[in-house]
Amino acid sequence: MFVEMHPYIGLIEAIKQRRAARAFKSDRIPEVILQEILELAAQAPSGFNLQPWRFIVVQNQQNKEKLQACAFNQRQVGEAPVVLICCGDRRAAEMANITSVIHLGEDEGIMTPSYASYMRSSISPGIQALRDAGLWLSDTLVNLLKQQAGE
Ligand SMILES: Cc1cc2nc3c(=O)[nH]c(=O)nc-3n(C[C@H](O)[C@H](O)[C@H](O)COP(=O)(O)O)c2cc1C
Repeated sequence: MFVEMHPYIGLIEAIKQRRAARAFKSDRIPEVILQEILELAAQAPSGFNLQPWRFIVVQNQQNKEKLQACAFNQRQVGEAPVVLICCGDRRAAEMANITSVIHLGEDEGIMTPSYASYMRSSISPGIQALRDAGLWLSDTLVNLLKQQAGE
């Protein structure tokens, strides 16, 4: 679904005019606009197209106030009619998700069998290796700091 925005402005003008908003009207956001925003957000590129984002749409006033308390009590969080939480899904590199991305690519006719097999065999071990490297680095740094502190 494509919602035509009025007035229409081009990309360069939109980038130049964009500002962080800190006050919001309480007007309800139409469902069709919310849907469009989420669909556009999902067009963002991601590594191996794993799409590791999950969105939570918060509209309930009590929940927005709980969020406001977690956000340095910034008034605009409770005031905006809708708050979108964008979460990173750490399970994105698990085989179930890789398989569904491969199926998506196959359905669209853009996933070759050799790329599918490359994805199956490379991503999970690759991500595991990155996690291991991260853990090793943080352990090493903690040990170095302890040594420097004379512990
Ligand atoms: C990662 C990130 C976090 C931010 N967090 C807040 C925030 O908690 N509250 C807020 O009022 N603005 C927040 N901002 C908006 C910045 O303050 C704002 O982009 C910056 O002051 C420049 O102003 P402009 O976006 O109007 O050009 C955030 C921006 C970024 C990129």
